[in-house]
Amino acid sequence: MMSRVLIFSFLLLATCSIAFASDPSPLQDFCVADSKSPVLVNGVVCKDAKLVQAEDFLFRGLHLMGNTSNDVGSNVTAVAVAELPGLNTFGISMARIDFAPMGINPPHTHPRATEILTVIEGRILVGFVTSNLENRLITKVLEKGDVFVFPKGLIHFQKNLGHEYAIAIAGLSSQNPGVITIAKAVFGSNPDIARDILAKAFQVDINVVYQIQSKF
Ligand SMILES: *[C@@H]1O[C@H](CO)[C@@H](O)[C@H](O)[C@H]1NC(C)=O
Ligand SMILES: *[C@@H]1O[C@H](CO)[C@@H](O)[C@H](O)[C@H]1NC(C)=O
Repeated sequence: MMSRVLIFSFLLLATCSIAFASDPSPLQDFCVADSKSPVLVNGVVCKDAKLVQAEDFLFRGLHLMGNTSNDVGSNVTAVAVAELPGLNTFGISMARIDFAPMGINPPHTHPRATEILTVIEGRILVGFVTSNLENRLITKVLEKGDVFVFPKGLIHFQKNLGHEYAIAIAGLSSQNPGVITIAKAVFGSNPDIARDILAKAFQVDINVVYQIQSKF
């Protein structure tokens, strides 16, 4: 009897975690995003199905390299609902990540998506950190063709280990995964987080906080 209750509770829990693990399921064939609608909903309002065109389901240009001439040496070309209106309500999107030699995609999280990534060109070090119970770093060097998964919400990063450009393609389990780049969000917020708070949080002198904030 007890074990039946346990099994039932487990099933209930498993079902709940599935239900909350991604964007809500669609209730129609499609709901092409109508970005011009003034109506605000969770997601984007549907365009009239009769006006939908093939182009609404198309994005062109993922063969093009992003410009990696920036401080970190990487560039993410996102194909999410903002770029591809037909993705609305489907709980999926993708991205191309270009890396300059030794470039990094700095530690960041996607609040709404798990990410699955494959290396198309080059050799990339990847890693993510588990939540505060352990803060364990899980890391791997990926070669061309390798596939790696970054669990939803966890802080992760990538680094090109090679002396050539590297390319990765990622799939994400949300039409709008969102991105929080840790350094930028914490030290480059608008307005700034008070320096004494960051000094205590990072256990450094207030001048160190000032120095980092000034970079963002
Ligand atoms: C990424 O590349 C695109 C296309 O070259 C460019 O317009 C954009 O400014 C780049 N973004 C960053 C952060 O460097
Ligand atoms: C890449 O971005 C840099 C910095 O913004 C800029 O100087 C350069 O012209 C860009 N290169 C291309 C090919 O657009």
